[in-house]
Formats: sequence, C-alpha cells, structure tokens
Amino acid sequence: MSRSFTRACLLGGILVSLLPTTHAFYLPGAAPHDYAEGEVVDLYVNALTPMLAGHDNAKLKSLINYDYYDPRFHFCEPEGGPHKEPESLGSILFGDRIFNSPYDIRMLEGNGTCKVLCRNTISGEDAKFINDRIKEDYALNWLIDGLPAAEAKVDLKTGDLFYDMGFNLGDDEGERAETPALNNHYEIVFRYHTPKPGIHRIVGVLVWPASIGGSQDTLGDCTPNQNTPLILRETGENAVQYTYRITWKESDTPWATRWDNYLHIFDPRIHWFSLINSIVIVVFLCLMVGMILYRTVSRDISRYNAIDLSEDVQEDWGWKLVHGEVFRRPRNPMILSVLVGNGAQLCAMVGVTLVFALLGFLSPSNRGSLATVMMVCWTLFGGVGGYISSRVYTSLGGENRSKNSFLTATVLPAVVFAIVFLLNLFLISAGSSGAVPFGTMLLIVVLWFGISAPLSLIGSYLGARHGAIRHPVRVNQIPRQIPQIPRYLQPWAATLLAGILPFGAAFVELYFVMSSLFASRAYYAFGFLALTAGVVALTTATVTILFTYFLLCAEEYRWHWRAFLTGGGSAFWLLAYGVFYWASRLSLDSFSSVMLYMGYLLLLALLDFLVTGTIGFLATYWAVRRLYSAIRID
Ligand SMILES: *[C@@H]1O[C@H](CO)[C@@H](O)[C@H](O)[C@H]1NC(C)=O
Repeated sequence: MSRSFTRACLLGGILVSLLPTTHAFYLPGAAPHDYAEGEVVDLYVNALTPMLAGHDNAKLKSLINYDYYDPRFHFCEPEGGPHKEPESLGSILFGDRIFNSPYDIRMLEGNGTCKVLCRNTISGEDAKFINDRIKEDYALNWLIDGLPAAEAKVDLKTGDLFYDMGFNLGDDEGERAETPALNNHYEIVFRYHTPKPGIHRIVGVLVWPASIGGSQDTLGDCTPNQNTPLILRETGENAVQYTYRITWKESDTPWATRWDNYLHIFDPRIHWFSLINSIVIVVFLCLMVGMILYRTVSRDISRYNAIDLSEDVQEDWGWKLVHGEVFRRPRNPMILSVLVGNGAQLCAMVGVTLVFALLGFLSPSNRGSLATVMMVCWTLFGGVGGYISSRVYTSLGGENRSKNSFLTATVLPAVVFAIVFLLNLFLISAGSSGAVPFGTMLLIVVLWFGISAPLSLIGSYLGARHGAIRHPVRVNQIPRQIPQIPRYLQPWAATLLAGILPFGAAFVELYFVMSSLFASRAYYAFGFLALTAGVVALTTATVTILFTYFLLCAEEYRWHWRAFLTGGGSAFWLLAYGVFYWASRLSLDSFSSVMLYMGYLLLLALLDFLVTGTIGFLATYWAVRRLYSAIRID
C-alpha cells in the first residue's frame, strides 16, 4: 500500500518538474479572420459587469450584470434595434449577453477622426441609476473579432504591460466619489498585424474612455477637458452626446499569440508558492500514512497471524477486534450510495475538464468553453454515476435497486436546479441580465432528462449486473458494543480536522479561482489548477484512510458514513473561506448581490463536498478491504 503512495508522490514530483506553466497555454480558437482594407469590423457589446477598481485593496461592490441595452443606460442603439448574437451554452450560463452595435468601423479607415455616435436624453431617474452603477465600478465589455476591448495597465510588481478586460463606465475616483462622471467618449486603438500585404488581422483592442462635458450639441475635437467632465444631474433631464475616435496602430504581435497580453498572470510566484505548499503537505501526509499503514499495519498483521498459530489463547486487540463488524450494513445505504454515485459523476467531469484545459482546448477566444465542456461532460458521465451508485448500493446490502437508480438520476440535479432557479429569481428581481433565459433552462432540462438520466439508468443496470463487491470477512450476527471513542474522533471534530489538510493544500489557488468566478478576472493557470486538484484528491484520500484506521483501532466500526463525511471535511472550510472572502474582499451593497454570492458559495461547497466525500469514501472502502483481507480469521 505504501508503495503505491510513494509511487503517486513520485509521479506528482515528475509532473511538477514538467510544468513550465507560468505562462498561460492555449490553442488558438478558430482560424484567423483576414480583413481587407475598408472591410467592416463588427463591434459587439456584452453585458456590463462590476469590476475591481484599479487601486490596491479594491473591493468588488456588486455581482449583478446588466444588459448593455438596458433602457436605463440609454446607450446608442443600431438602426432597427439591437440583435442578439448566437452564443454557446456555457457562455450564456456565465452571463454573456452579446448584441450588435452601431459603431461604424472599417479596416484602416478613419484614422484619428472624431465621430459622433448619437445624442440621447437621460431622465433624472435614469441618471441616478447610471450614477449608482458608476459608483459600483461597472465596466463595459466589448468584443471585436473575438477579442475583448481592454484597458492597458501596468503590473506594479513586474512593470509588465498587460490588458485588463473591460473599461470603466464612468469615473468615481477621488473628488468624483460623490458626483461621478459618465464616460461618453471612447478612444479606441486597434492594434493590427499585417502578415502579407493586403491582409490585416486584429491583434489587440484598447479603449481609453473619457468624459467630455460642456455643450452636448456641437462636435468639438474629442479632447476631454479635465475641468468639465460630464456629470449627470439626478434632477431633471441630461443631454448626452456619445463620441468615439479610432486609431489604427501596426503591431508585431502575430495573430497566434494575440491573447498573451490578456492572460496576464499576476505574480506567478504566488502560484508556485501555493504549489510548493501543497506538495509539502502531500509529501508529509504520504510519509505519515505510508509509515503508519506500512509499519503498524504490517506489524499488526504478522502479530495477529502469529498469535493464531501459537495456539496461545490471547485477547485480540486493535482493529482486528471489529473484523466481524466492518462490513455491517450502514444506516441509510440508499442516501450514501446516491451521494457517492453523483460524486463520482462530478469527479469524472472535473477530471476530464481539467485534462481538456491542460491540453489547451479551452481557448479563451471560444467564450464559455469551460462551462460548456463541464456541462457536456457531466451529462455524458451520467453512466458513471449510475454504475458506481448501484454497485455501492448492492455492496452495502441495499435491495431496492430501482429506487436507487431513480434517485441517483434525479436528486442532485433537482437540488442544483432548484438553487439555480431561486438565484435566478433574485437576478430577475434586481433587473439583471444575468438571469438564465428560459430557453437555456429548457436546454439544460433536456440534456438532463434526455441524455444524463437515461445514461445513468443504463449505468445502474450494468452496476447491478456486476453485483456486490465481495467482502473478505463475514459479518457477525450480533453487533458489538462500541466503546467511548476519543474526542478528536467524534464526527464533527474528525471532519474538521481532516478537512484542514486538503483545504490547506488548495487555499491559495482557491483565492484565484474565487477572484475569477466572482470578480470576472480571467483565469488561465490551468496547469497549477490541475496539479492542485490532484494534490487535493490525494490528500483527501490519504487523510480519510488515516482517520478510518484510527476509528477502527478505537473499535468504532461504523466507518461508511464517517469516511464520506471526513473526506468532505474540506467543503466546510471552503464555506468558511467563502464567508471570509466575502467579508474581506467584497463589499456587496445590495441584498440581491449578497444572496447571489451566498447561493453560489453554497452550490460550490455542496459540489465540493460530494466530490471530496466520494473520493474519501471510495479510497477508504478500498483500503478497508485490503486491510481485512490481509489477516487470518478463524
Ligand atoms: C494612425 O494615426 C497614428 C497617429 O495618430 C499613426 O501612428 C498611425 O500610424 C496611423 N495609422 C495608419 C494606418 O495610418
């Protein structure tokens, strides 16, 4: 047993040395679009999202997206009204709402000319709405040729230039804190690359938004005056003129690497630190578990077996005492097996998604590909869930197989669906565009009932045909009495104690994941993420086995549920960390935002609990079987 752990540790070490992933790695998406001179360049607008303000200790103030064409914003609309662009499932789920726009952009034309987009009147009521959004640091998100419009920023630590996606709706810094200025002018810089004469490719889009006050009826020279920004009065009507100026700049960046500037990894050292931290934890654990399970257990085994030989009638001790109990049917095998089945389905999904990400298939230009791959994987792995659930169920002595298959296919999706549905209500009531549209909901239900559930039933059938796992020792007729167990092995104490290690291995990386989930920072350090996930899985498995060993030594033989709970212990830490993140990094000002955050956090913790609980349970099941098949029992 210890040998396989050492092997796993070694493998981890080798993987790490193979990992030059301080740079984001991806395969470019579709083929490049070659523009001829004068060809129309489409500019698409996406939903407005709250952004982290530039300064240090910036806090996210909201979690609610708004449609670009939300009538309260009064942005200029294209002739004939805006049209929705087709999007992938994952892109919709992650809040993209892409429309066309009235900007008139032609390749290499109109260099440096100031143009008026339109003039609008904003009522006092809507001015207040806009001002509130500026105070919450909302950002505009544009897409041009698959690239997001960005603000150029400098990484203060390294001095590197990078592109921060999105740009400010307005300015509320410093003296503008109470009277925010609306940005009504956009300096748009297109960086283009010319691989061959006559062929141009867009390799970067930068926007410098500015606020131009004064008369909104005459077109000046588009130069903002520091002293007269455009401030919307919340009493009475405001005239607003939207202007823009395009500059074409040649660039050496080839099309294939155009995303590199966007996928800036802040301080890669932190990722390395996190990784080393995790590796230390794992090596430490491997050694500990290896030692305990190898030394103690093999000594135990040889002593147990020796005693039996030298007919000395001696009392058994330790975990051998409960050999007639360990495979006793646990309480509620139905619920346990359903949890394990669904956990296994999620594990398979996470694993395959990470492999896809590592191989670079989740190109950033293919928006929402991560979420799409996850949904598709989850659907297709329905069979895995059904199979594992039904095998575990029969092995635990369950009899009602059809009920088991039915519950495995329906309970978890129903719970997740219910939570998402509730969060959706909050989004709708907040007037947000982030609510999942009805059609998408329907598509998800079809994926679930049409593909995942039938696959799960087929898996259940196969699992039932394979039958129960055989156990190495028989179960006694009469249950043993369970003595008082030490306090650190009480369920809650053990769960929290055991959860510290996997959580500790992951929490630095977790910070980045949280930032990308909630503060819409791009996350492409998938190499680090995959390794961290591997480390967490390994840690969860070893820690759970270790605690189960202690438990059995303390003659507490009801390990099934305890293994699941101990494995899932890190989810409670995740929940606590989420609350801490909320308190320290976010300052959400509306009730809906807080409810949304808590809802997503709960969902995340629930899925984490299932995944790690399943890993813990299955690893322990394997270990317990190995343990008890090694001793002789008369
Ligand atoms: C556009 O103007 C800028 C300066 O205003 C200049 O650097 C750039 O080369 C011009 N681009 C083209 C295509 O003429």
